[in-house]
Amino acid sequence: MQSDIAQILIDRTTIAQRVEQIAKQITTDLVGPEGHENFREELTLVPILTGSIIFVADLIRHLPLRLRIRLISVTSYPGTATTSKGATIEQSLTNLPTDLSGAHVLVLDDILDSGQTLRLVCDTLQKRNPASLRTCVLLRKDRPEAQAFPVDYACFDIPDAFVVGYGLDYDGYYRNLPEIVTLRPELIR
Ligand code: IMP
Ligand code: MG
Repeated sequence: MQSDIAQILIDRTTIAQRVEQIAKQITTDLVGPEGHENFREELTLVPILTGSIIFVADLIRHLPLRLRIRLISVTSYPGTATTSKGATIEQSLTNLPTDLSGAHVLVLDDILDSGQTLRLVCDTLQKRNPASLRTCVLLRKDRPEAQAFPVDYACFDIPDAFVVGYGLDYDGYYRNLPEIVTLRPELIR
């Protein structure tokens, strides 16, 4: 697996530092200047499966808030595709409540590319009437569709290249690489 890597784009230390920093920002924005001792509400995290799992696992341990996790699964890159084939919700892996009234929802995804996935998820959640809806992505690609899509938090801006690691896959593999990397071009069909 290590020999498949072309380049390390973001190393594990940099990821860890930035995830902690974003978690602090999310907390401050939600809780306000009075601090979390006086914050009585709760956060509903909605990770988009499967790519966000590592990011979410690291992020939530820096969120000193009362929170719950609800899952949504979206597929857009079947098999070895490296461009989106249109996003659809996979109901069997989704456990969203039908009513989100009063909930402060934070959607988490691994990467913002065409924006189709986040648009679908945000439209779906908005219909369930949340008290607030924010979005956070680990990576945002340097392409017009991604840059134009409004997100509340983006940890890193990266070049418009296909990347894997830290949860991101190619054909289901490489999610366990601890860094964000590009693959040797001959491995990608
Ligand atoms: P979008 O719907 O085009 O914005 O794509 C978002 C989804 O596509 C992400 O949740 C990822 O699962 C996947 N994706 C987009 N770019 C990459 C990449 O470079 N590597 C791995 N997965 C990607
Ligand atoms: Mg994904």
